[in-house]
Formats: sequence, C-alpha cells, structure tokens
Amino acid sequence: MNPIYANNAAGSWPLAPGVAEAVYEAMRQPAWQPGRDARGESNVVENCRARLAALLGVKDPARVVFTPNASFALNLAILGLSLSDGDRVVTTVTEHNSVLRPLHLLEKEKGVRLTLIGLDSTGRLDMDAFDDALRQGPSLVVCNHASNVTGRVNDVAAIFSRAKARGAATLLDASQSLGYLPVSPSALHADLIAFPGQKGLRGPVGTGALYISPEIKLRQIWMGGTGIRSDVRLHPEPMPLRHEMGTVNVPALAGLAAALAWREEHGGDFREHARRVTREFRDRLREIPGVHIFDDDDACPRVNVVSFRLAEWSVEEAGYVLAESFQIFCRTGLHCAPRIHSHIGSAPDGTVRMSFSGCTTESDVETILSAIKELATCRLCA
Ligand SMILES: Cc1ncc(COP(=O)(O)O)c(C=O)c1O
Repeated sequence: MNPIYANNAAGSWPLAPGVAEAVYEAMRQPAWQPGRDARGESNVVENCRARLAALLGVKDPARVVFTPNASFALNLAILGLSLSDGDRVVTTVTEHNSVLRPLHLLEKEKGVRLTLIGLDSTGRLDMDAFDDALRQGPSLVVCNHASNVTGRVNDVAAIFSRAKARGAATLLDASQSLGYLPVSPSALHADLIAFPGQKGLRGPVGTGALYISPEIKLRQIWMGGTGIRSDVRLHPEPMPLRHEMGTVNVPALAGLAAALAWREEHGGDFREHARRVTREFRDRLREIPGVHIFDDDDACPRVNVVSFRLAEWSVEEAGYVLAESFQIFCRTGLHCAPRIHSHIGSAPDGTVRMSFSGCTTESDVETILSAIKELATCRLCA
C-alpha cells in the first residue's frame, strides 16, 4: 500500500521538481551571506526575491521581506504597525492563530479594540457586520484569502477596498491561496501580504515573506548585523534590510527560487489538476452515508481543502485509523484556527481535513474515498 499524502494545506508534498537539488547545490557552495559579498543581483536570495515580486506583480522586489514562515510575516505586520490604546482592528472568525494571537496580545497589552466578523447564514463573511465595524474607523483590517479549515475563498478585494476607503491598512494572509489563486496587492487592495514558501509554492519548509506596500512603514522589530554599514548605531533603514537581519537561510531560498522557476512554467496545469481532484473528492464524499462536510456550499470558490466528520467516529480516531490502517495522511482537529468551528458546527473537536495538490492523483482520491466508505459503513452498520 503506497502512502497517500493529503495534508498539503500544512505543507506541499512532494516539493516542486528541482527544489531538493537547488538546496543541496546551495549547501555545497562556500558559505556566504547576502549583502556581504559582491554577487549583488546575481545571488540566489535576490533571484528568489525578484521571482516573488514578479509573482505578486510588484515592481520593486525590495518590498518583499523574507521571514522564516507565514507566522513571522503576520507577526511582523501586526506588531510593526505600532497599534496602541484606542486603535481598532477588524478581523474574522476564520483566521489562523498566527493572526489571532498577536492581535489578542495587542488587545491585552496595548488596549487595542478587536472586532471579529462572523459568518452569515450562507457561510460567507458577514458583510453587514463588516460594514458596521468599518464605520468605527479601524486602523487595520486583517483577512485570510482562503480558510485553511473549509477552503472557502473570501472576497478580499471587496473587503479591502471598503476598508481602504475608510483609511484602514489592509493585511492579507495568503497562506492558503498563493500558488493556487492570483494574489496581487493592486487587485486585492492589500497593503501587506503574508505567505509561506512551503504550501502552494511548493518550496522548502522554513521559508516565507511579507510584502510591504511603499505606503506602509512598519516599526523595526528585529535588528542586528546586516553586513553593511556596521558603523551606524541603528539598524539600516532601506528596504528590504530594514526588516531582515543576521544570516539568511540561503539553501532554503535557493530551493524556493527553484520552486518559483518551476511554477512559472507549469503552475497553470498544477493548479487546474488540484482544483479538479478536489472537486471530484468533494462531490463523491457528499454521497457517502454518515459523512458530513462542513461548509459545503457548492457555489462558492474554494482552494483544495475539504473538512468533514464521520458519524460515530471522533475526528482523532478517524485520522488515526486512516493513517494506521490505510496509510492516508491527513490532519484532524482545530487546524490552529480555533474560532471558525463554532460557526460551521465543528466545535469543540474540529474536523478531519483532506487537502490536495496538483500531485494528488485520481487513484489517490479513489483510495481515500473507499477508505472513508469503509470507516463510515463499519460503524453505521455495527
Ligand atoms: C491560513 C494560515 N495562516 C497562517 C499559517 C501559518 O503558516 P506558517 O506555518 O508558514 O507559519 C497557516 C498554516 O497552516 C495557515 O493555514
């Protein structure tokens, strides 16, 4: 029995062709650090930055700051805005803890007032509640592009354009969308975009970035050596160095650059295949007696994530048996997004989550469905 990987919302597997080789090759080179040699634009780090900027449709690559993952990027954006007593922030119940936790800390320590937008009766973000919250004049609106629990794509262009019309800064969590959906600051009205390298981009773990619009100046949170201007007392101001310090993970960024190069050629087919297998899975899963799919509105756009539960099975138990008996590796529980579950009916235990990629085959989908059918029938008929 071949193992089947269905946890691509956590990190894509397999990585894009050429990634492992690029990482290995970078590790075989003499140690050197960006900014501390004469390679300038030709070094792999700047190559990676330029490819990311091109993917986002951003003219100046210096606006893309590397971070070790999406959580760091979100923290930099949220904490870097220097929000304080009296500032209001609007976000949603569908966010990941990497958004909610720094915001709750600001609420606790700085007196920032936080509004969490819930869902309407159709499962969409409640736009009336959102408009009410905007009337209070928030400084920041934070929203994910797609939920890591339900895969539902939020209409961030509409949300952020209204937010910007009211003068709020806008922060997009593109963790589940970049690589699968078009993401650009101009089309989505996003001032800040946080994303990882290891999900839809199929790069190495431990990579991520934050796009920062020229209109936003974030406070420096981390500082240190940069290899240039060692004589000045404060950390240098120019982007991207303003938010980067110390030794960069060159092999991982070499890998991410290779993933981006692959994506430039083959990304369209990869995305289309992922969409097709997810749709096939969702449609056929719905027909299995004893399966309940959470947020199963067929009409709304989604990324490659499906959350469900099986009657008579706890989600942990179902995930355990799928892994142990069928070699199917998915994820169960709250998925680090604790608030959405009471809105979609999956509190307190969460869901069984399958998440696919362009490498998931039709036969993988077939095997997963027949395993779920077996689990569902064995207890329903017992
Ligand atoms: C929606 C969302 N935001 C943020 C994150 C955090 O990403 P990272 O693990 O790269 O920090 C995740 C990870 O699963 C996510 O799904």
